[in-house]
Amino acid sequence: MTIRADIVRAHFHDHFGEWPVAVFRAPGRVTLIGDHTDYQGGLALSMALPTATWVAAGPRPTLTVQAGSDHEGAWFDGTVAELRERAQARPVSGWAGWLAAVWSLLPSTAGANLWVESDLAVGAGLSSSAALTLGLLAALQVLSGQPIALPPLTRLAQRVENEYLGVPSGLLDQLSIAMAQPRSALLIDAAAQSARPVAFPYPDAGYRVWIVDTKSPRTLQAAGYRQRVQEAAAAADALSLPSLGAASEGDLARIADPLLVRRARHIITENARVQATVDAAAHGRWAHVMALFNDSHASLAEDYAVSTPRLDQTAARMRQLGIGARVTGAGFGGSIVALGPAAQEPDLLAGLSALYEQEGWPPPATRPILYPNGGLMQVGG
Ligand code: GLA
Repeated sequence: MTIRADIVRAHFHDHFGEWPVAVFRAPGRVTLIGDHTDYQGGLALSMALPTATWVAAGPRPTLTVQAGSDHEGAWFDGTVAELRERAQARPVSGWAGWLAAVWSLLPSTAGANLWVESDLAVGAGLSSSAALTLGLLAALQVLSGQPIALPPLTRLAQRVENEYLGVPSGLLDQLSIAMAQPRSALLIDAAAQSARPVAFPYPDAGYRVWIVDTKSPRTLQAAGYRQRVQEAAAAADALSLPSLGAASEGDLARIADPLLVRRARHIITENARVQATVDAAAHGRWAHVMALFNDSHASLAEDYAVSTPRLDQTAARMRQLGIGARVTGAGFGGSIVALGPAAQEPDLLAGLSALYEQEGWPPPATRPILYPNGGLMQVGG
């Protein structure tokens, strides 16, 4: 991590001929369990990944911005006024769109030099978007000499998604990235907008978490996500509740529309599974945690309809091997998160390559996560 921070500093120096004032590392996140609950005041359990986005920032003497990124192959060279102007037309898009959003949300930010690097897969359901936003916001705040307070920063980052990018997402990604602690999972309570570290000591028990990026396009993701948010709100309305976080399975009989019953049932049962996972992990009942992962996948596939045939088949192959697996993040493509005995790794890799070859799909990227990582952090100046 420190080595990478030094590399990013050096690249900043190559571009701008001076050293950055602040370098931030914003990791990706994986939802262990608890998806599509956050925008309904529910629970989620997540952890930060070893892969991350790094943002290096330095001042400029004028109200101008030069910003580049290895990942996007993007380069912006313009004025602060231009960015603020661009932020008026929403949704924003592209590299300049991100910059426009953060400059518009941080009114006291002057000119800056920025350099961004990332080894976080984009579109894999691992929060590359929130990582970039949080890294940019944090670096620019330090540059303006402002203290960083994490809860307000997470809400600003959520506003980038909601108001500028047009995605009505909850706070799961931002809280996961900002508040993660090394070697712990993070229990998120969306109703309280809070997050606390909880024990999830799978490495000590000889278990391993894997993320399988199925490399499937997430073309329907934005539209599908928006539709689920609306359906969940309609289900809460049908119950005259502010959110489904306060509902129980007994309430389902009061919803007339069968589609809304399914959507509500996912959210209500997923909240219970998050709590059950935290309890089971605390007692080392990993077989039970794996079963909860499998139940969560079934619920997301059947009741919430955010899975795809490729995600389903990937999870099914892992279940055959005795590994717990579920779609993670928003779904409609993206990644599977799996938990199983570490010794199963060769079987898992062989099973997945056989499946993907047989189906004619490009090979998936499978990554073991040896332990939970730390969250957003300043790693250099
Ligand atoms: C996306 C959103 C989050 C959350 C997840 C699904 O990652 O940004 O707010 O809703 O999907 O759990």
